[in-house]
Amino acid sequence: MSRKILVTSALPYANGSIHLGHLVEYIQTDIWVRFQKMRGNECHYVCADDTHGTPIMLRAESEGITPEQLIARVWQEHYDDFKAFHVEFDHYGSTNSDENRVCAETIYRRLRDAGLIATRAIEQFYDPVKQMFLPDRFIKGECPKCGAKDQYGDNCEACGAAYTPTELKNPYSAVSGAKPEMRESEHFFFKLSDPRCQQFLRAWTRSGTLQVEAANKMREWLGGDGANQTTAEDADRVNQPLIDGIAGENKLTDWDISRDAPYFGFEIPDAPGKYFYVWLDAPVGYMGSFQQLCDKAGINFDEYWNPDSSADLYHFIGKDILYFHALFWPAMLEHAGFRTPTKLFVHGFLTVNGEKMSKSRGTFITARSYLDHVKNPEYLRYYYAAKLNGTMEDIDLNLDDFVARVNSDLVGKYINIASRTAGFISKQFGGKLRAASEHAVIAEMRAAADSIAENYANRDYGRALREIMALADKANACVAEAAPWDMAKQSGQEAALHAVCSAALEMFRLLTLYLKPVLPKLATEIESFLGIAPLEWKHVNDGLADGHAIQTYQHLITRIDPKQITTMIEASKESLQAAPVPAKEKSEEENHISIDDFTKVDLRIAKIVNAEHVEGAEKLLRLMLDIGEEKPRQVFAGIKSAYDPQTLVGRLTVMVANLAPRKMKFGLSEGMVLAASDERGGPYILSPDTGAQPGMRVK
Ligand code: 2FM
Ligand code: ZN
Repeated sequence: MSRKILVTSALPYANGSIHLGHLVEYIQTDIWVRFQKMRGNECHYVCADDTHGTPIMLRAESEGITPEQLIARVWQEHYDDFKAFHVEFDHYGSTNSDENRVCAETIYRRLRDAGLIATRAIEQFYDPVKQMFLPDRFIKGECPKCGAKDQYGDNCEACGAAYTPTELKNPYSAVSGAKPEMRESEHFFFKLSDPRCQQFLRAWTRSGTLQVEAANKMREWLGGDGANQTTAEDADRVNQPLIDGIAGENKLTDWDISRDAPYFGFEIPDAPGKYFYVWLDAPVGYMGSFQQLCDKAGINFDEYWNPDSSADLYHFIGKDILYFHALFWPAMLEHAGFRTPTKLFVHGFLTVNGEKMSKSRGTFITARSYLDHVKNPEYLRYYYAAKLNGTMEDIDLNLDDFVARVNSDLVGKYINIASRTAGFISKQFGGKLRAASEHAVIAEMRAAADSIAENYANRDYGRALREIMALADKANACVAEAAPWDMAKQSGQEAALHAVCSAALEMFRLLTLYLKPVLPKLATEIESFLGIAPLEWKHVNDGLADGHAIQTYQHLITRIDPKQITTMIEASKESLQAAPVPAKEKSEEENHISIDDFTKVDLRIAKIVNAEHVEGAEKLLRLMLDIGEEKPRQVFAGIKSAYDPQTLVGRLTVMVANLAPRKMKFGLSEGMVLAASDERGGPYILSPDTGAQPGMRVK
């Protein structure tokens, strides 16, 4: 019987590019959705950009554009990247939509009517210059434990200590540099401490909605049953926004869901100047985006979201956001009268060559950079699939193994079956096949259909692919044993040659069917080569008929050249141009410089009088900088990924004016522009406060 299924992937934040880490999840989900569709289920896959919050508001401001302009640009970029990797959403929306606003307001009002919203005054750091309350990540200062400078408001990168921003020594605003003040403000809370929420969540997190590892984590976090206190390590994993509601407690405390203006987001009904915290309307974005799909495709929204819905709802997420999806989100849904998720499918992080992705090692690779250098997105889909097993374990992209595996499995085993046999059909048999008679390997391949399907359904793609490749080995062995190339030279062997090649192509058809969720584009090309309708799971037994005509075989895929990987890594390092060198790897002593060292650096306010693309440069923009000298300076800055040159013209920024000029392929670079970045985004160039003039010394 056909099932109704709604599937989501986490909504990427509209503040940075899609990278290979993100793609683990979208590829994992897309494979699952394609598999469900091939099985004949009614499966809808929605996603959206997550667009609200302070970082987006400030970034837009620094680029001199509106938040709406910023999120429109990033939406297009994300959309194009996903499309290029064949991640086929049925709808890709934005959390900044009317549909999402309606859903968020409905949920809020229903929670309020149920007595689950409270207000109370909280004290928070306030930036008196910028005139805004500061989220924890925009407050910096000295670590209360080890004294390391310039640490974020939640934990110390030097010693790992977790704390609250009020514990920082000499705190300063990362926005303006001003000393923050403590101010009081009224906030809205979702009362997770209410016994109804606690009771519901204890039951929900134990009812088979979570993988075992995730359920255990929740048990720890939720307390009861003599569970442990939340540890610092937990708080660390949970990442910043959660600390609002939970850290340090062995039961749930109320969750702060409001932020004060100025804030880019939805204003809370009946509460002027108060906005929903971005993490409130982000998961609601699953509903908002689905609503848009319903409107466009005539689907009944309520059938999927009513409490008595018989449809399934699955969220694919990374383990870093388990908390939001296993606690806040189901509690919101339950108490607002909606259905709760059927299951959360949680995956681990991506490492590259066994380590965290790193800009300096060139392993922080964007989707674009992969496409520019390796080109074929299906190679990455195949490799990730081979590594995924449905657990929360991290997966490793080992680049040497990637090249070896793709070349050997896809080119050497799979495609090889067609490339060694199809030519004979065209040349000697007018492109027509002979019905494959009883054949042991074909029978074995068909018999594997259920087991392969089960592995896909369980997200154990690694196991599915091992099974499929073992079948490909058998197909190759048949071909090698029969040696059609020898048969073709002997007379009287025509019928046997015809039979062998036809059987091999039937095996190739079956392998294509099994691999189609992972390799959808290649499968489509093969369907047209074989002259068959789009493959579905039920076609397993529909062998190619006697006399069926195929097209002439065309070369289908090429091997990866290891050089493509090298250039991709080099290009990713090149994007470091504008990024600061991390000081972390040095010893404490080496970390200190004298004031004289510092004053050697001549920092100047610079006005960007012109900015343009540089032909042939992937990362660089050519900037002309006025620092009060006779002629503007030419500087090449590695900020092309983040800035449209037109939006830079007229802006003030900060440059290093006494850096030795550097001869580059594109011309002389006469200085350096400062910009910030790390795994969370960037580069962000700096802006001085109003009043600064070109040429002023920064010290
Ligand atoms: O962690 C993130 O990048 C969030 N933007 C994910 C949101 S998922 C859902 F809740 F919207
Ligand atoms: Zn520290």
